[in-house]
Amino acid sequence: MVNGPSDRGGASKAGATSTARRPADSGVSTEDVAGGEGGNRQAQPGSVTVWDGFARFATIPVAAPPEPGAPQRSLAERLAYHSQFVTVRTPAVDVLAKQVRTLMLLVRHQQVTARPSLIVTGPAGAGKTTALFQVGRACHLARIRRQGEMATAVGGQVPVAYVLVPPAASAKTLALEFARYLGIPATARMSQASIVNSVCHACTAASVQLVVIDEIHRLNPRTATGAQSADLLKDLTERIGVTFVHAGIDVTATPLFTGVRGAQLAARASLVDCAPFPTRDGEHEPFKDLVRALENALDLRHHRAGSLVRLAPYVHARTAGRIGSLTRLIKQAALAALTDGTERITKTTLDAIRLDHLAEQHDRPRAPTRSGSR
Ligand SMILES: Nc1ncnc2c1ncn2[C@@H]1O[C@H](COP(=O)(O)OP(=O)(O)OP(=O)(O)O)[C@@H](O)[C@H]1O
Ligand SMILES: [Mg+2]
Repeated sequence: MVNGPSDRGGASKAGATSTARRPADSGVSTEDVAGGEGGNRQAQPGSVTVWDGFARFATIPVAAPPEPGAPQRSLAERLAYHSQFVTVRTPAVDVLAKQVRTLMLLVRHQQVTARPSLIVTGPAGAGKTTALFQVGRACHLARIRRQGEMATAVGGQVPVAYVLVPPAASAKTLALEFARYLGIPATARMSQASIVNSVCHACTAASVQLVVIDEIHRLNPRTATGAQSADLLKDLTERIGVTFVHAGIDVTATPLFTGVRGAQLAARASLVDCAPFPTRDGEHEPFKDLVRALENALDLRHHRAGSLVRLAPYVHARTAGRIGSLTRLIKQAALAALTDGTERITKTTLDAIRLDHLAEQHDRPRAPTRSGSR
């Protein structure tokens, strides 16, 4: 189930002038794209929002637990490992990967309009972006396998475009965000039409195969600018003609799915649900399985295997089954166990960790005030 490291994009710079080199005329070497030598190469936070940063993220070796019989890793190495930690192949990642593969085939042979797309939806911190990155990485690596590393490094191919919807996005700032990712020298002074033309041309020239658009809950088609941005996205799916995957927080409950535009979107997008992990699902215990996968990846010298799985009910109560809160809890507990020398995670270790506000609110609601309100 364990898969590799997770990574996040940083905040987007709406309307920023793009200065990065265009993929097709880039002179970077394989070495540059892969980040040089050494086993500790890591994509820098925020860097995935430009094409060469995503390529770096996709090609760096992933963090992995030690192989059986491998020499012990130093404290510093293990601190770094647990800070990054592994990515688990969750059911959502699996479903998304399968659906993207099918859509890619469909889209490749469907030259006409109304191309189907996917929307990953779920609450905050549920693993939506991580699932997108896993699928994006797989797509990037598949291209390298087919055509060799030179295709993406000096050949200027960009299999995956990852774009964050800027806050209060207008159609133009959204188009500029695409341009920035692709390294097209676009500025806010250019007309929207010419930016969009350049983006469509660059996508074709760089053989983009998968477009991933994150944070779509920021689009509100009930406002004039939001409606134009939603229209732009629809136009891009028609013009670029590749597979589009969107992600956003609980999108079916947002204005995105209302009105005429909402109906158009609902008619072509399938949903992939990235929900919190329940304790039980029929015969299965999804949360326990997740805790087991993460526990098996720990590299602590005195940790008793299975002790974290036994604490699963307590851990579920603390994290509400959200993978973001769970991984944070385990990572912080592992770092505490390394720094205090105990090298094991117990309930006492977990009790001492303060989680994100959402999880703390869920687990430890504030005491009622005198008036009875919270
Ligand atoms: N499959 C996974 N394996 C291991 N850790 C994961 C996985 N998915 C998510 N995480 C952890 O949970 C954290 C939150 O995940 P992510 O950013 O993907 O959630 P999100 O749903 O995109 O959140 P938001 O709605 O705030 O954008 C990540 O930083 C990562 O540490
Ligand atoms: Mg996200």
